[in-house]
Amino acid sequence: MRVLTIIPTFNELEALPVTVDRLRAAVPDSDVLIADDNSPDGTGELADRMAAEDSNIHVMHRRGKEGLGAAYIAGFRWALERDYDVIVELDADGSHRPEDLPSLLAKVPDAHLVIGSRWVPGGSVVNWPLHRKLISRAGSLYSRTMLGLPVRDITAGFRAFRRETLEAIDFDAIESVGYGFQVDMTFRVAQLGFTITEVPITFVERELGVSKMSGNIVVEAMLNVTRWGLSARWKKLTSATR
Ligand code: GDD
Ligand code: MN
Repeated sequence: MRVLTIIPTFNELEALPVTVDRLRAAVPDSDVLIADDNSPDGTGELADRMAAEDSNIHVMHRRGKEGLGAAYIAGFRWALERDYDVIVELDADGSHRPEDLPSLLAKVPDAHLVIGSRWVPGGSVVNWPLHRKLISRAGSLYSRTMLGLPVRDITAGFRAFRRETLEAIDFDAIESVGYGFQVDMTFRVAQLGFTITEVPITFVERELGVSKMSGNIVVEAMLNVTRWGLSARWKKLTSATR
């Protein structure tokens, strides 16, 4: 099983090397692709230095800050051009503990998409203020209901995709630029009839650097989910009355 872990970065100078070291120790067989959006703090140059010292580390330099979704899609395309069997998403800031990755990978034979979940029994969040917990839980609940998906942590960013899952997705059709991208991917995977499994993780809020979460990101996700949910219902309704 050839594994590629994609780490999107924007200004993660302090956190990135710690996370990559932990990942290389926890899952030495995984290659790493750092997808940097031309971070002003020099994360891209640091990534180049890390890659020069470790042939399993690769770097993708992107033009500028174009959003998490765009960075991941570019990373997915990079992976599919090569012979990786499993493609992992991991935040750079240490919130996704690389030590939890083996438990995600262990489920890949049973599911097309494995999600590291904060909101299943055994999962948790450490050091998040109440309002972040509420946004995440409410966002997941709203998306789950609207889209009819049996997933507890729909916006989760710690994931393992089988290659065939990504091969089936039309990346050109994905419009989400913010973290709603994660919901978008979940919805598409489910609509294609693929299986999704959640495994509990402990999400640890970052100690280094700052979050890129913003009001715009929440609004984009909410509007998209509403639109997709209504249009799926409309399709169902019109096909039932025909
Ligand atoms: N290349 C690139 N471009 N990377 C980005 C961008 C971007 O525009 N925006 C954010 N990132 C990277 C960050 O550098 C980090 O590695 C990762 O994406 C997550 O960003 P954070 O800013 O740390 O996100 P968070 O902790 O607030 O949000 C968490 O919760 C979200 C909602 O559940 C993450 O787990 C997200 O993945 C998740 O969707
Ligand atoms: Mn974070």
